[in-house]
Amino acid sequence: MTEPLDALRAPFESAGQGHVFAHVDRLGPGERETFARELSAIDLDLVAKLGAKLAGGAAAAQSPSFEPPVVVRAGDGGEGQARALGEELLAAGKVGFVLVAGGQGSRLGFNGPKGAFEVGPVTSKTLFEWHAARILAAGARHGFQPTWYIMTSRANDAETRAFFAGNGRFGFPEDDLFFFSQDMLPALDGEGRIVLAGPGEVFLAPDGHGGTLAALHQSGALEHMQARGIEELSYFQVDNPLARPADPLFVGYHCAQGAEMSSKVVPKRDAAEKVGVLGLVDGVLGCIEYSDLSDELREAKAASGDLLFNAGNIAAHMIRRSFVERLNQGGALDLPWHIARKELGAIDSSGAPTKIPGVKFETFVFDALARAKACVTMEVERAQEFSPVKNAEGSDSPATCKADLSAIGRAISGLDDAVVEIDPRVAETLDEFNERAPVVQRTEGGALCAAPQ
Ligand code: UD1
Repeated sequence: MTEPLDALRAPFESAGQGHVFAHVDRLGPGERETFARELSAIDLDLVAKLGAKLAGGAAAAQSPSFEPPVVVRAGDGGEGQARALGEELLAAGKVGFVLVAGGQGSRLGFNGPKGAFEVGPVTSKTLFEWHAARILAAGARHGFQPTWYIMTSRANDAETRAFFAGNGRFGFPEDDLFFFSQDMLPALDGEGRIVLAGPGEVFLAPDGHGGTLAALHQSGALEHMQARGIEELSYFQVDNPLARPADPLFVGYHCAQGAEMSSKVVPKRDAAEKVGVLGLVDGVLGCIEYSDLSDELREAKAASGDLLFNAGNIAAHMIRRSFVERLNQGGALDLPWHIARKELGAIDSSGAPTKIPGVKFETFVFDALARAKACVTMEVERAQEFSPVKNAEGSDSPATCKADLSAIGRAISGLDDAVVEIDPRVAETLDEFNERAPVVQRTEGGALCAAPQ
């Protein structure tokens, strides 16, 4: 009988990827089976397309025109109505929560799912726990039972699930959590050849957070939402514990304007801040990633003296479920592929470990903005909603995030301790704090208002 691995030789060889079999002689039977499974999951047509993109280099495209987007804010006309609509939709359970946590957190240098990283200013509360607390607090405030969809990647799925299980699922009933995994793609070398991480192992990398939109479909999450009456998805990133996924005003503006995909932005800290910028690309709303924004556009000033391109993407979106369904119609979702050049741990032709310059391919969720029939861009306050943990030190680090959480704790409680932590389930506003009059515990690390057990 032909071994599964042998049966794969012909298609890989004719795709110019026969080198992946160079070291299979040294694999044991179990390893051969695993490798065969890994290879058979690879879409060789897609690999060929990505290889061709690489060979084509940066297309000498004409630079598109780029203009600032139309932005709404709290206080703009219609705020009261929008907020009321958002509250109504939340209370009716029409909003589901989608956390993207499939990334690798390599800049932070943390080994494990990034959501397991501790950011409580006083306690060891992790990113996952902050998000859980905010969603549960919203459920209690608006009177609905939230459902939380969590996207992992194959690299961290088991660990993420185990982390939730080991921590009492942070108070979520098992039925209301839905884990799903994004796809992985092979990394390629400069010649478009699949990179081997070991003699029987392809170098696979997550396909970018644009993969969320396909994974929601493939995993059955969209059907799960439909069965629960969820019509709108609130999408947010694991690295930002200030994210407010159940924001009635954002839900309300998005729905009142019939938008299919909406985004929150903050004014950029300075021209160099590493955030994408929303704007009209040839008249169509999109996001230009910081690495793709020319120096000229990055530094351009408006008449007010502020940065002209100042709508910093905080990666918080409202996305209509039917829009994601439409994007998935007719097979593969067709978002543009972005190229990330990285040094990769690989093996050389003798099978010895080495480092090579390689390429990973990703799609970005915000590229779907261009496909949406209508979009709302809402500006929010950075201090209230955006303090991501990206780097081990310096800006956007654990230290700055803890300081920002503490500042919010001080504002909510009116306490003037240097370090204050308030669980979102205890209070998220000064009014709630006064009304609930929680016990303030003073510990060595600072003042703490914990959630009720
Ligand atoms: C991202 C945005 C940027 C935005 C900034 C806000 C991109 C390309 N850019 O930048 O526009 O201003 O956040 O903080 O995303 N993730 C996955 N799967 C993947 C890749 C990423 O789930 O394959 C998740 C990560 O777990 C993380 C989030 O997406 O939650 C952001 O990924 P990251 O690569 O850290 O993006 P940034 O470069 O920080």
